[in-house]
Amino acid sequence: MKVGLIGTGLLGNSVGLHLMQSGYQLTVFNRTSEKTKELKNNGAQIVSTPKEVAKNSDVVITVIKDSNAVKQVSFEKDGIIYGNHKDLIVCDMSTINPLESKNIAEKFSKHNISMLDTPVMGGPNVAITGDLIMMAAGNKDSFDKCKELFDTIANKVFFLGENGTAHAVKLAMNLQITMLALALSEGITLVRGSKVDPKLFLEILNSTYFKTGMSENKALKMIQDKFEATFTLENLKKDINIISETSKSLGLDLPMIKKAEEIYENAVLEGFGNLDYTGILAYLKKLNEKN
Ligand SMILES: NC(=O)c1ccc[n+]([C@@H]2O[C@H](COP(=O)([O-])OP(=O)(O)OC[C@H]3O[C@@H](n4cnc5c(N)ncnc54)[C@H](OP(=O)(O)O)[C@@H]3O)[C@@H](O)[C@H]2O)c1
Repeated sequence: MKVGLIGTGLLGNSVGLHLMQSGYQLTVFNRTSEKTKELKNNGAQIVSTPKEVAKNSDVVITVIKDSNAVKQVSFEKDGIIYGNHKDLIVCDMSTINPLESKNIAEKFSKHNISMLDTPVMGGPNVAITGDLIMMAAGNKDSFDKCKELFDTIANKVFFLGENGTAHAVKLAMNLQITMLALALSEGITLVRGSKVDPKLFLEILNSTYFKTGMSENKALKMIQDKFEATFTLENLKKDINIISETSKSLGLDLPMIKKAEEIYENAVLEGFGNLDYTGILAYLKKLNEKN
C-alpha cells in the first residue's frame, strides 16, 4: 500500500517517520516545505501539491490544523480531488468539528473518494513508536482495507460508525485533557501560594487513586517551567472552541468547557499559544503575579 501524508507538524512528522521505519513508501506534502526535511532525509518523496500526493498514493493521511485547512488541501487549487484515481481513500487524522467532517466526507463522496475520520490520542512521542490510540469512522470496507496501516500507526484502533462519530469521541477525550491540565495547574498554583513544595504535592497526588498519566508524566516538567510543546496550547484552544461549537449545535450545556474556553483564549491572547498545552500553568503563574 502506497501512503501519502499531508501535514508535517509535530504529530504528522512522527507518524511519517514511524510509517517509513515500518516499511511504507511515503509521498509527503507540507504547506511550509522546510518542515519536510527530516522525512526527506529518511527517504520520503516530497512533492509540491496535495494533488501529487493523491496521484502517488492508495491512501492519503491528512494531519493538519483544522477543518479550513482540510478543506483547502482537499478541494482547492491542486487539492486532493485533482489527483483522484480509482479506490483512493483519504484518512483525516486532524482534530476537527464532527459536522464539518461529515460535510467534507460527503463532498469527497461526490468524487467517489472514500473519507474516513481517524483522529488519534497521544502525541509525537508515542506516534514515533506506533503507540497512538485511534478512533475511526466512515465506510467500513474502506476501514477494513486500511486496518493493517492503522495497526501500524496505533496500538488500539476503535471503529465507531458513520463519519463524524470518531471526531465526537476525540472531542470528549480532549475535554478530559483540558480539565486535567487545569486541575493540575490550579492545584500546583494553590500549593505554591501556600508555600508547600509542589514536588511534594505531586508525590502525594501520585500516591493516590487520583493520579493520572499527566500527573505522572508531565507534571514534574511543569513545575520546572519546562513547556516544550508536544501539543500546543493554541491547538488545544482550537479544540476547546470546537467542543463549544459542537455542544451548542447539539443543544447541550457544558458549563466547565465554557469557563475553560475563556481561560485558554486569554492565555493565547497573552502570548502562551506556542507553549505545550500544560503551559496553562505558566499563564496562571503570570495571572497571580499581577494580583
Ligand atoms: N500534537 C499532538 O499531540 C496531537 C495529538 C492528536 C491530534 N492532534 C491534531 O493533529 C493536527 C496537527 O497537530 P500538530 O500538533 O501536528 O500541529 P502543528 O505542529 O501546529 O502543525 C500544524 C500542521 O497543519 C498545517 N496547516 C495549518 N494550516 C494549514 C492550511 N491552511 N493549509 C495547509 N496546511 C495547514 C501546518 O502547515 P505549516 O507547517 O505550513 O504551518 C502543519 O503541518 C491538529 O488538528 C491537532 O489538533 C495533535
